[in-house]
Amino acid sequence: MKKEVKSNVSWVGKVDWELQNFHGYEYSTHKGSTYNSYLIQEEKTVLIDTVWSPFAEEFVENLAKEIDLQRIDYIIANHGEVDHSGALPVLMKHIPNTPIYCTANAVKSLKGQFHQDWDFQVVKTGDKLDIGNGKELIFVEMTMLHWPDSMATYLTKDNILFSNDAFGQHYATDCLFNDLVDQCDLFNESIKYYANILVPFSQILRKKLDEVLALNLPIDIIATSHGVIWRDNPMQIVEKYAEWANDYQENQITIIYDTMWNGTKKLAEKIAEGIGLADSNVVVKVYNLSKSDENDLITEVFKSKTLILGSPTISNSILHSMAGFIQLIKGMKFKNKKAAAFGCYGWSGEAVKVMNGMLEDAGLHLIDEGFRNHWNPNEDQLAKALEYGKKIAKA
Ligand code: FEO
Repeated sequence: MKKEVKSNVSWVGKVDWELQNFHGYEYSTHKGSTYNSYLIQEEKTVLIDTVWSPFAEEFVENLAKEIDLQRIDYIIANHGEVDHSGALPVLMKHIPNTPIYCTANAVKSLKGQFHQDWDFQVVKTGDKLDIGNGKELIFVEMTMLHWPDSMATYLTKDNILFSNDAFGQHYATDCLFNDLVDQCDLFNESIKYYANILVPFSQILRKKLDEVLALNLPIDIIATSHGVIWRDNPMQIVEKYAEWANDYQENQITIIYDTMWNGTKKLAEKIAEGIGLADSNVVVKVYNLSKSDENDLITEVFKSKTLILGSPTISNSILHSMAGFIQLIKGMKFKNKKAAAFGCYGWSGEAVKVMNGMLEDAGLHLIDEGFRNHWNPNEDQLAKALEYGKKIAKA
């Protein structure tokens, strides 16, 4: 269903209420998502992005109820990833000769996925497209935010930045705008999105934000490709991104462990207690990895100044849940975070050493050699874990 964004700009996307996972099973979407597509009707009719492939037929049918598809003059593909380009094959059957404006990399992506020779019109930063009534589209390459082909499109006079993935959230809502939704939900989904998708590109993002701001384009609305449209103080999310992109951390220490017979769990809780005793201001959070959502944990890691990971030794190594989680952390390329490892062992006891190596490889700074405990901890050993927590707090 078409919804008005502003004057001759409408939302024609899809709300995916029941989406539980995104990027396969790499990203949990507890609150669903939306695939935002926009229709601009000036002298020229422009479609910005489409929706994910499973909704292609529905999308084109709905669009055809709103306008004669033959009237679409230009398609803007801000990004080739299939959650935004997925309806192109169905749409282009109706309008095969309509030009598609996108970056050179997006041509590679779209051709690579759909194997079609559509009329691609390559654009780069600063290129403009006249759409009549004195309005223009200005293109801004957003290379690596978050794919090499990503770009944003700015609509003059209406001052709308169609930012694609940047500034988005996986958040299903029928309320189109940021001021109409629960603000806690919106913040939580925004920071989770940043922490799990954009954080590896923070350095690039810092430069790109400066570049976009230097264009001196007034921005009244940021129309993202997922979640709500920022119309109430749209720069608030730009300011948050500037903060998050600057090696963000809070005064938080997060302990994440997995356990076989609860020995490592007991250590986790004692270490947490020790941290709290040594520093009553620091926020300490403790999670059992196997009972937690990994993407929610990555958000907690993003917020943390220090990360303490625990695993018992098994088969001369660590639990595979922890190995996979450290690999996930490595992919995020976190900067300026301290770390330490702990765990129980019965026989060979390599887990802490293995975790130390993996944490260093993931770019975290080890506080010390870690904390090992032989067998299930008794009162003396728990007291040592408490002291270890105090040491972590002071590190
Ligand atoms: Fe929402 Fe990179 O696609």
